[in-house]
Amino acid sequence: MKTDNTIGIIGYGSMGKMLLWKFAENAGLDKQSILVSNRTSDKLKEAEEVATIADNRQAAAKADIVFVCVRPADLKSVLEDIKDDINPDALLVSLNGSISFESIHKVISNKTAKVIPSVTAEIGRSQTLVCFDDNSMEKDKADLTQLLKTIGDVIELPEDEMGMGSELVSCMPGFIASIFDVICTSAQDHTSLPKEQIVSMVLATMSATGDLMIRKDMTFDDVVKRVATKGGITEEGTKVVYDGFPQTADLLFEKTLEKRRLTAESAGKSFEV
Ligand SMILES: NC(=O)c1ccc[n+]([C@@H]2O[C@H](COP(=O)([O-])OP(=O)(O)OC[C@H]3O[C@@H](n4cnc5c(N)ncnc54)[C@H](OP(=O)(O)O)[C@@H]3O)[C@@H](O)[C@H]2O)c1
Repeated sequence: MKTDNTIGIIGYGSMGKMLLWKFAENAGLDKQSILVSNRTSDKLKEAEEVATIADNRQAAAKADIVFVCVRPADLKSVLEDIKDDINPDALLVSLNGSISFESIHKVISNKTAKVIPSVTAEIGRSQTLVCFDDNSMEKDKADLTQLLKTIGDVIELPEDEMGMGSELVSCMPGFIASIFDVICTSAQDHTSLPKEQIVSMVLATMSATGDLMIRKDMTFDDVVKRVATKGGITEEGTKVVYDGFPQTADLLFEKTLEKRRLTAESAGKSFEV
C-alpha cells in the first residue's frame, strides 16, 4: 500500500513507536514522508533509520496527518506548542479516547480524529477504533482509514461509544490475558504438568478457538453446545462459568468505565484552565 500523505508522529512512546515502525514497514512511506518528535530526543536515535527526526512544531507544520501520541496529562501542552505551526489543512489525530473534540478545539480548530489502536497491531491484526469530528471531510476519512488498514481492521464509532469500544478492543488483550492467567494458575493446583506446558496448551487452544469461530461463523453458544454435551464433563465446567463469572464481568466494566469517566473529567478540567 502506498500513501501520498506526509505523516507526523509526536510522542515516541509505546503507541508512537508502534505506529511509526508499522507505517514505515507497511504503508510505503519513505524517510522524508514520516516526521517524528519526542520530548526526550535521545530516544529518537533508532528512529533515524525510517523517519526524519523533527521537533513538535516541524512535525506539525509539514505533515498532512499529525498523530499526537502523548499521555492525556501532556496533550494540552503539546497542542499549545504546535497550534501556531500546524498546517491548517492537516488532520490532527489524538490517540487519547478520554479527551473530547470539544476540549481539543479549545486549543486547535483543525479537523480532528481520535484513534485507538490495539497492541495486536504488532502482528497486523489491530481492531483500530476511529472517530471523526464534524469538520473532517470524506477525503480525511478515506486517507486515515487507508493508513490505519496497514495495521489491521478499522472500525468507525461515534464519539460517545469510543469508551466502551476501547474496553472491547484496546483493553481486551489485557482482560483476556489476565483471565487466562487466572485459569492457568488454577490448573496448576490440580496437575503435575509444568506451568509452561499448561500455558502453551491453553494459548494454542484459545487462539484456535477464536479462529474456528471466525472461519466457521460460530457463536460462543455454538462452541459451548458443540463441546459441552448434556450431562458431560465440560458442561460441569461451563455451568460454573455461567453461574459465577457474570458478577466478575459486570464489576470489571463498572470499574473500567468509572475510571474512564473520572479520567475524562479531570482531562476536560485541564483544558478549562
Ligand atoms: N498503550 C496502549 O496500549 C494504548 C492504546 C490505545 C491508546 N493509547 C493512548 O495513547 C497515548 C499514548 O500512550 P503511550 O502508551 O504511548 O504513552 P507513553 O508510552 O508514556 O509515551 C508517551 C510519549 O509522549 C512523549 N511526550 C510527552 N510529552 C511530550 C511533549 N511535550 N512533546 C513530545 N513528546 C512528548 C513522551 O516522551 P518522554 O520520552 O520524554 O517520556 C513519551 O515518549 C495515551 O493517550 C494513551 O491513552 C495507549
